[in-house]
Amino acid sequence: MDLKKYIADVPDFPEKGIIFRDISPLMADGDAYRYATNQITQYAKDKGVEMIVGPEARGFIVGCPVAYELGIGFAPVRKKGKLPRETIEVSYGLEYGSDILQVHKDAIKPGQKVLVCDDLLATGGTIAATIELIEKLGGVVVGTAFFIELTDLNGRDKIKGYDIFNLMEY
Ligand code: PRP
Ligand code: ADE
Repeated sequence: MDLKKYIADVPDFPEKGIIFRDISPLMADGDAYRYATNQITQYAKDKGVEMIVGPEARGFIVGCPVAYELGIGFAPVRKKGKLPRETIEVSYGLEYGSDILQVHKDAIKPGQKVLVCDDLLATGGTIAATIELIEKLGGVVVGTAFFIELTDLNGRDKIKGYDIFNLMEY
């Protein structure tokens, strides 16, 4: 399936010079959303994944249906101040700004094989911070999966040594 026809390219959002790759038309099409989810689910099966982690907010859209399909758990990584119980945190930069990400201290069991899911890999700041959180909790990141990779931003250089699965490249 040609998934790129379900991506809306929005120039100058959220700021001038950024082409925002909007996945909402893909999510709005049941067949396309299921196809994309199935691709990542197969990758997760091949990797023997035991837990899915996704960063707020679009990582939930990608990761939750994969966890549901596999019958395994999903742990949310959230921007500071959203999670109600004891957390650990890291700060990070992204294509348009910087922020702090947190995860609950008991979100991952030591040794658990984790797949990190997100809609898009840009500078890699978000995924690198998410991996750091998982590893601080003793999780083993066996792969990362994205709908989209923006190759010009070299995000993969920030997560050298980790396997990357994508469905589209720009
Ligand atoms: C976007 C996107 C990725 C991240 C990629 O999230 O969903 O998580 O940026 O950029 P990076 O590789 O440069 O870190 P954003 O922080 O805009 O939050 P949202 O998902 O809540 O919209
Ligand atoms: N997150 C970071 N860069 C992005 C882009 N160009 N489009 C959509 N989400 C993004």
